[in-house]
This record gives sequence, structure tokens and C-alpha cells, in this order.
Amino acid sequence: MSADYTVQGSVAVVTLNNPPVNGLGLETRSAAVAAIRQAESDDAVKAIVITGAGKAFSGGADIREFNSPKALTEPTLHTLIRAVENSSKPVVAAIHAVAMGGGLELALGCNYRVALPGAQIALPEVKLGLLPGAGGTQRMPRLVGLEMALNMVVSGTPVPSEKLAATALFDEVFPAGTELLPAAIAFANKVADVRPLPKVRDRKVDYPNHEAFVQFSRNTVKAMSGPFPAPLECIETVAASITMPFEDGLKFERERFLHLMQTAESKALRHAFMAERAASKVPDVPSDTPTRKIESAAVIGAGTMGGGIAMNFANAGIPVTILETKQEALDKGLATIRKNYANTLKKGKLTQEKFEQRVALITGTLAYEDIAQADIVIEAVFEDMGVKEAVFKQLDAVMKPGAILASNTSTLDLDRIAAFTGRPQDVIGLHFFSPANVMKLLEIVRGKQTGKDVLATALALSKKIKKTGVVSGVCDGFIGNRMLEQYLRQAFFLLDEGALPEQVDAAIEKFGFAMGPFRMSDLAGNDIGWYIRKRRAIETPDIAYSKTADLLCEQGRFGQKTGAGWYDYKAGDRKAYPSQLVNDMIVQYSQDIGVERRAIADAEIVERLVYALANEGAKILEEGIALRASDIDMVYLTGYGFPLHRGGPMFYADSVGLPNVLDAVRKYARGRHGEAWTPAPLLESRAAEGKGFNA
Ligand code: NAI
Repeated sequence: MSADYTVQGSVAVVTLNNPPVNGLGLETRSAAVAAIRQAESDDAVKAIVITGAGKAFSGGADIREFNSPKALTEPTLHTLIRAVENSSKPVVAAIHAVAMGGGLELALGCNYRVALPGAQIALPEVKLGLLPGAGGTQRMPRLVGLEMALNMVVSGTPVPSEKLAATALFDEVFPAGTELLPAAIAFANKVADVRPLPKVRDRKVDYPNHEAFVQFSRNTVKAMSGPFPAPLECIETVAASITMPFEDGLKFERERFLHLMQTAESKALRHAFMAERAASKVPDVPSDTPTRKIESAAVIGAGTMGGGIAMNFANAGIPVTILETKQEALDKGLATIRKNYANTLKKGKLTQEKFEQRVALITGTLAYEDIAQADIVIEAVFEDMGVKEAVFKQLDAVMKPGAILASNTSTLDLDRIAAFTGRPQDVIGLHFFSPANVMKLLEIVRGKQTGKDVLATALALSKKIKKTGVVSGVCDGFIGNRMLEQYLRQAFFLLDEGALPEQVDAAIEKFGFAMGPFRMSDLAGNDIGWYIRKRRAIETPDIAYSKTADLLCEQGRFGQKTGAGWYDYKAGDRKAYPSQLVNDMIVQYSQDIGVERRAIADAEIVERLVYALANEGAKILEEGIALRASDIDMVYLTGYGFPLHRGGPMFYADSVGLPNVLDAVRKYARGRHGEAWTPAPLLESRAAEGKGFNA
């Protein structure tokens, strides 16, 4: 049973019971409808209370039913709400903890609503590119007013129940500490004989001069919603609660909901939502795999990454010690951390108390003995195998048994690093992205011998420090940087063939990337790629690169940090100004290598950059480096600024159609540096089968 039925005196109690959050899946809906019918036919029952078991009233739709026929099988949520609204006996929703989405819409169909304080009340559908499709847009304004309803529907943000106590949404918000069910039953007894039954649909939305307010909202939301159509649709449907009779409003809501379901933007958001949940699941590491406790941490290296990594632990309340080789470097690193926190404090995003707590949780040392008892240590020293070797041998010698030894390396072979220790099962890659205290992505690199409990602990840790953990196998660059290399190679080849940095950046930013490849390289530092290309020139001399990036570095133009890169920069200004000098250099280089420059369309730029990602992603998927296509999408959405409304490179390729992507890849394979475009076998096979990567 996923809804329980009991009778207490003359009140029937229907308890939604579908852990974890009483999602309104098919079984729950069926059981709830049956329970309402049973209560109606039981002469001893005079009123009905609907409540939720465990952690919530109801979190809304059951996400396990997403994209399955069950979601549309009768009784649907509409049918359940109609059964409640048409009940001949009064129905009281008794709300605690969470009433969201469809769960809240069910409560809106009831005759009365009572709640405990602190319950999270929300209509979050907009976050999936949708709008509340079960009457929420029509009933909510009738209870909380036009303004509040618009805010809640357009933002999707939860509002605590006590803040809504003064509205007609709640007939009573009980004092804190009240036991909900007895109080709700007492309330039901009190209203058992009231007739006619109050229905939300019968109420009017009163808002003088609503047109002006709605127009103002349209203007504001239009400016903020970027490529997403849902926020504006939310406004139109909520506005219909004023301009249309209730039933027409419901029909309009339904129509706009079904329209949004079909939009590429909503599909992408729903994909990202599911992808985030899927990423934490590893087939051979079940969710009951034991984890190791992480109550203290250490970080080796107080540089760019080490400082940011340490902040993640302090933010989660875990004490962390940073180890450096020199006092000067340690002081500098700790000062930077303090400055970062001070800035957050100044902006009012941190209280003085939290500021002090966090700063106090971070200490520094020069001695390995001081970190020996840490539960986890993350190495973030120079990207050099010799330096990593020295550090890991030292860690192996001093760390307590069972400590997790992690490396933040972005390209080096984790299995070689693990082999420097006598405990490779304890070694794992935790690849943070810069700035490490801000970026959501954490690539969790699973070595050949990494213990399952160590992997499970890393996945749990990623949640604790509020990161999106994605598991990657070992290869040069792991998932993200290995794909990025193909993307950057194309960006540089485009320069040789006729494009300029500002054109490439503008084209891909118009596609939706947060930053084009050249602005991004200037921010990250062009010397990093230069260093990697020098290593590759020795390890894999056959891979061709444009030399323009090297020429740039030879002039010391490392990017923002040197005041010049692909672009020019002015002191105190992060804006990128196109550089005549660089552009002349690019044109000259084309001449030197005998390439006749041509006009390159923006569409070609976007295809070459994005398909280079997808084609390499397909190889990564086939090799088992990534567990699933959606993991690759997650890496790009959370770590590389790929546009959310396009769902990630693999999802985007699926939506274009893999046969179309394959055609383009083959076309580019016939062009200059066609060897970079060998189609991934998985792209060929999936295209032939008519499937997508995310199938
Ligand atoms: P960084 O040069 O800013 O910092 C490295 C720090 O390590 C320096 O403070 C140095 O004094 C210290 N250090 C060097 N040898 C040491 C040793 N034996 N013991 C203790 N401390 C030592 O470098 P960054 O950028 O923080 O990179 C660190 C690691 O993170 C590298 O493996 C890099 O590939 C990786 N990484 C860097 C990213 C970035 O965007 N900068 C992104 C993701 C990973």
C-alpha cells in the first residue's frame, strides 16, 4: 500500500506513504483515490484528513515515473484532485515538512489546509522548464493573491509555511511543537458539518489594475529568463486566474503545460535533473557499500587549488590542515583564503560568526606529522610526476592506516601515483575545478585498484561539500579535459583557416557557452596548455596542433594574469579587448603555413567545437571511462559552462540526431586536419541503430 487508511472516531485519515517524500506515483494515487472513495461510503466517517508519512506531506510527482507511461496512467493527479474536490465530506490537508509541486496542488484541491510551521511550500516546476500542471496556477492566486502566487510559480522557490500563515492558503498554522495529526483531526471534527463545502475554485482573485502588474512582471521576467520560455508561460497562466473562469483557466494551464513539455529547454532541464541523480550511482558500488568516516582533512599545497579545496571542507564544518614546504607559501595561501572569506562577509553572504568558525577550521603546517591522523588528504602540488611521487611516498609513510589519499591532478596517470604507495586501494583522484570553492563539478577518478568503500566515501563526500560528483576512469585528461582538448584543437585550427578569436568566442557564446575558448584560456592561463602540449609533443608526437597558441605563449601572453593573452586587457578591468597584434600574428601564421584564409560561418564554428566534444565523448563512453552519457553531460554543465538549456554535449548531439552529427563529422574528416575527425565507433553504431547516446 502506498496510502494507508484508518478511521479515528468520525474522521478518516489517509496517509500518503511512498518514501522518501511520498511522491505521487501511480500506486500512491490509486490507493489515495480508493481511500477517499472508502471514506465517502463509510457512514461513520464525517470528515477526511490527508497527511503524509515520514519526511514530508508530499514532494510532488514521483521522479521514478518520469518519462514512463505510468505518469499518464489513470488515476492521474488530476483525477485524484478531482476526487478530493468533489468529495461529499470535507477534506483537510495536514501538512508538515514539505508540500511541493503536485503535492501542494493536491492540498489546494482540499477544502481546508492546516500546517506545522517550517514546512517548505513550493511550486518548483519552473526549474524543470515547466509550470504547475494540476491546477496550481489557478488555485494558488485564489489563496495567496496574485503577487505572491506569481513570485512562487515563476521562481519555484520554497516559502516556509509560517510566512504564508496570514494568507488563505492555511486555515491554521499550529504553534511549533504541536503534534500534527491529533490537531488536524480536532480541526476536521470542528468543520465536519460546515456546508456548503468551501472550494478554492469558487474564490475570486482580487487585484486592482492587474494588467499593469502583469505587464511589469512580464518585462522583469523576460529580462531575466534568458533562453528559457517557462517563466513567461508561468506569468501568462497565473494571469489567466484573473481573466478566465476557473475551468477555462485549468484548460489553458493544461495546454501551456503540454506545450512546455515538448520544448527543447524543458527536455534539457529534465535531462540535467535526472543526470545529476544518476551520476551518484555506480553499478558495482551499491548504495549500501560501507563508507569511511571523514571528520578531518588535510590538503597538500596552498596554491590556487589547495586553498579553494580547503575552503570546501571548512564550509562543511570539517577541520582541515594545509601543508606546504615553505612558511612563505603557507602564509600566502592562508591569507588568500582569509581574504576570500572576508569578501563574502563584506557582501553580507556570511555572518561574522560563520566567518570566524570557518577561518578557525583551517590551519597550516610544514610538518607531515601534523596531518598523519587526518581521515582524508588531498594533494594539490605542482602538476609534475616527480613532485607527486615525493608527496605520495611521504603520505604512505606517515598517514594513519585507512586514511584516504587523494590527488587533484588534472592530467597525470592516477594508477602510477597509486603505485608510489603501498596502499593503492586507498588512493583516488578528486579533481576539483577552479575556483575550487565555487565550481560545482568534482571529477572522482577511480583508479584500477581504488577500493569500493573509498569510491563510495568520495561520492558521499561530494554531496557533503555540495559538489556534483561524477566518476571517471583513468585516462589522460579524464572526462572533461580530454574532451576539452579536442574542442581547443578545433578552436585553434579555426584561427589558421580564417577565424579570429573574437569571432569564435562570439559564435559559441551565442550558442550559450558562458565563455568562449579564447576568453576561457586567457582566464585559466595559456601557459597551462603550453606546458601540456610540450609534454604531448614527446609522448604523442603525431597529434597535430596549430602553432598559434605556442607563438602566443612565446611572447609571454599567458592571459589575464600577465595583462595580455588572446586579447588585450587593461589594468583593473577584466574585459577582453580584441588585439591587433594577436590578430596580425594569426593572419601571418596562415600565410606562413600556406593556408588561404576564408570566411567561416558561425554555424561551422559551433558545429566544429560542439561535435568535437561529442565525438570524443563517444569514445570516452565506449572505453568505459564514463559510466553513462549523462555523466559526460553533467561534467560539461557543471564544470565547463556548457549551456544548460542544451543539456550537455551528448544530449545536444542526441537532439540534433546522431545521423546528422555523423554526416557533419564525416564532412570535416574530408577537410583540413581531417585526422582529428575520425568518427567514434559508438557514434557510427548508435546512428545506424537510430539510437541516441542517452538511450
Ligand atoms: P599552484 O602552483 O597554484 O599551487 C601549487 C602549490 O603546491 C604551491 O603553493 C607550492 O608551493 C605547493 N607545493 C609544491 N610542491 C609541494 C610539496 N612537495 N609539498 C607541499 N606543497 C608543495 O598550482 P595549482 O594550480 O593549485 O595546481 C595544483 C594541482 O591542481 C595540479 O596538479 C594541477 O594540475 C591541479 N589542478 C589545477 C587546476 C587549475 O585550474 N589551476 C584545476 C584542476 C586541477
